[in-house]
Amino acid sequence: MKRSLIAGIGSALPEKVLTNRDLESIVDTSDEWIVQRTGISERHVAAEGETTSDLALAAAEKALADAGLTSADIDLIVLATATPDQTFPATACTVQDRLGMHHGYAFDVQAVCSGFLFALTTADAHLKAGSAKRALVIGAETFSRILDWSDRGTCVLFGDGAGAVVLEAHEAGEETAPRGLLTAHLRSDGHFRDKLFVDGGPSSTRTVGHLRMEGREVFKHAVATITDVITDAFEATGESAETIDWFVPHQANRRIIDASAKRLGIAEEKVVVTVQHHGNTSAASIPLALDVAVRDGRIKKGDLVLLEAMGGGFTWGSALIRW
Ligand code: ACO
Repeated sequence: MKRSLIAGIGSALPEKVLTNRDLESIVDTSDEWIVQRTGISERHVAAEGETTSDLALAAAEKALADAGLTSADIDLIVLATATPDQTFPATACTVQDRLGMHHGYAFDVQAVCSGFLFALTTADAHLKAGSAKRALVIGAETFSRILDWSDRGTCVLFGDGAGAVVLEAHEAGEETAPRGLLTAHLRSDGHFRDKLFVDGGPSSTRTVGHLRMEGREVFKHAVATITDVITDAFEATGESAETIDWFVPHQANRRIIDASAKRLGIAEEKVVVTVQHHGNTSAASIPLALDVAVRDGRIKKGDLVLLEAMGGGFTWGSALIRW
């Protein structure tokens, strides 16, 4: 039986920072409103010409360096994004080429804010099946490109960035506390697809479109739906809110994060929060937050880390990893 271990992690943010004060000159909003409703103070936005693959590549190179590997050691790239460089080819293929990698295979997955968990689970399945030995799993977004900068209800919420991990197949031994991805649970319900969507696309409008959202509906579902996949993760492993070391949720909104942790009985000090500096970076948010907590020494080898996300579709999921 194989198990996928995280061998390295890295992230990348555009240089340009957009503060709430900066937004006050773009739309009718205030720092106070944004902080109170979302917990966000600033977000990074891509410069003119800076693409999702630029950020993905930078994050991937850092993850490879962290693992002490090069692209020659990788045989699979799974990249989660809702803001690809182009409709096709997959941004994963662009990253593959830019890494100088001309072997193995690369593809994108699209599950919006849950994208990283869908990509991680997909890569894990390929490693377990023996189709690949080491995968780069990347979440990368430039949501600033699909925001309606005249809509104060959405443009204040999102940011750009990328995070990546190297996932490596290991033979599972008889350890009492095995490391790696222990369990993952994914869900979707397309019935809610009009609550959070982009009003354009190649086959419908032939345009890229802008992000549209019923904020209150999304908020309600985000808090209500995620508990099922976390209960599934705990049931599958015998772990619990007490035994996990860290909870790294999708960074959409501080109020959603706090309400979810409270509902799950997860102590405040176990929750990793980066939304104040990153905003909601969709598929990039979990690996970005993980990287912050690994770099600052909170997440250590052997720690039990619970990941959770919910996003457009709706899609949602959880993953439990022993780091
Ligand atoms: N600045 C000032 N006022 C604003 C702003 C803003 N940026 N945006 C909206 N308002 C106003 C509205 O116009 C409204 O005014 P009105 O009462 O005069 O009509 C008032 O604030 C209240 O608006 P609501 O939308 O009801 O505010 P709410 O308390 O629901 O907060 C928010 C809005 C922050 C979007 C909240 O609904 C939310 O967080 N939803 C979740 C959305 C989310 O996180 N989506 C991310 C994608 S999904 C995911 O990643 C999970």
